[in-house]
Amino acid sequence: MKALILAGGAGTRLRPITHTRAKQLVPVANTPILHYGIHSMVAAGITELGVIVGDTREEVMADLGDGSRFGASVTYIPQDEPLGLAHCVLIARDFLGDDDFVMYLGDNLLEQDLEAFVGAFAAARDGEHPPSAQILLKPVSDPQRFGIASLDDDGHVVHLVEKPTEPPSNLALVGVYLFDSEIHEAVAAIAPSERGELEITDAIQWLIDQGRRVRTEILTGWWIDTGKLTPLLEANRLILETIEPRIDGTVDDESFIDGRVVIEAGAEVINSTIRGPVAIGANTQVVDSFIGPFSAIGADCEVRHSEIEHSVVMERSQVIDIPRLEDSLIGSDAVVSRSKRKPRAVRLMVGDHCQIDIE
Ligand code: TTP
Repeated sequence: MKALILAGGAGTRLRPITHTRAKQLVPVANTPILHYGIHSMVAAGITELGVIVGDTREEVMADLGDGSRFGASVTYIPQDEPLGLAHCVLIARDFLGDDDFVMYLGDNLLEQDLEAFVGAFAAARDGEHPPSAQILLKPVSDPQRFGIASLDDDGHVVHLVEKPTEPPSNLALVGVYLFDSEIHEAVAAIAPSERGELEITDAIQWLIDQGRRVRTEILTGWWIDTGKLTPLLEANRLILETIEPRIDGTVDDESFIDGRVVIEAGAEVINSTIRGPVAIGANTQVVDSFIGPFSAIGADCEVRHSEIEHSVVMERSQVIDIPRLEDSLIGSDAVVSRSKRKPRAVRLMVGDHCQIDIE
C-alpha cells in the first residue's frame, strides 16, 4: 500500500500566512500540521509516500526532504495548478502504479490512528465482495459545509454530494480515502465541476454508478480541517492537551509553571507565568510575561511584558508590550509591539515578516 499526500492547493482561506508559506507547514503545538499525517501513515506501515506539491513546493521539499527522518521515502509530484483532489490522483498515476493507496489531505488532522482504518480496508479487500474504495465519515452539525454521504442499510455509499443545501445525512467526508487501482479509470472519466476542479466526490460517485462497492468507516475521534484560523487554533488546543510535560529550558526562581507545559532546550523563562497546556520552542525568551492555556510559541521567539492566550506564534517572532494577545496566529519573523501602554486585548492574524505596532 502507498500513500498520496496532498500538499499543494492555494490556501486562500489562511491568507496572509499562505502568501509566504504552505498551509500544511503551519505549526500546531510547534509541529507542522503535515508531520502528524506522515507520522500516522508510517505508524500504519505505509512508507512509500507520493507528495503533491504546488506553488509552495520548495518549502515543502526542503521540510520533508527524502522522507528518511520520518522512516519513509518521499516522491514529489508537482501540480502546476490546484485543479482538484481527483486531478492529484490523475497526475500521480506513474507513482501509484496499480497499488492500493491512501489519499490524505495534508491540512487535515485526526485524533485517531490510521492503522485500524487501513487494516479494515485490507481485510475487506480479501473478503467476498471486495470494495474499490473506502471513505471515512464523521457526523457533523453543519453538513451544508462539507461533502456528504448517504448510505444503504449495509453501510455502503449510495450517493455523495458536495456542500448540499438540503443535506441527505450529517455524515461528512473526512480527508482520508482508500482506493484500489479502479480509481484511475474514474478520475479519467469525470469532467471538471462548476468550480473548474476534478472532484474526488465525483470520481467516487462514478465508481458507485459503475456498480463498485464503496465502504465506509465512522470516525469516533476528532477531525479538523485546519484550512482556516478558528479550526487551526482548535487543533492547536486539542494537540496541546495531549503533550507530555517536559522542561528542557531554564526557568528562573521568579517564574511559575503550571500544568501541561513543554519548554524546549535553550528557552528561558524569566519572571513569568506559564499556565499550560503550552509549548515553548527552543531558544525562545519569555520575560515579564504570562503565557496562558492553549498557546504555542515557536523557536527563537521573544515575548516581553506581554500576555498571550489561545494563540500560535511562529518561529523568530517578537511580541513586546502587548497587554493581551488572544485567539491569534502570528507568522514567523514578525514583530508585534505597542508604543503606548493602554490595557487592551488584541486579536490578530499576522503574516510572516510583518511589523505591527499598536498605538
Ligand atoms: P482544499 O483545502 O480543499 O483547497 P485549498 O488548499 O486550495 O484551500 P483554499 O480553499 O483555502 O484555497 O485542499 C485540501 C488539501 O488538498 C490541501 O492540503 C491542499 C491540497 N490540494 C492539492 O494538493 N491540490 C489541489 O488541486 C487541491 C484542490 C488541494
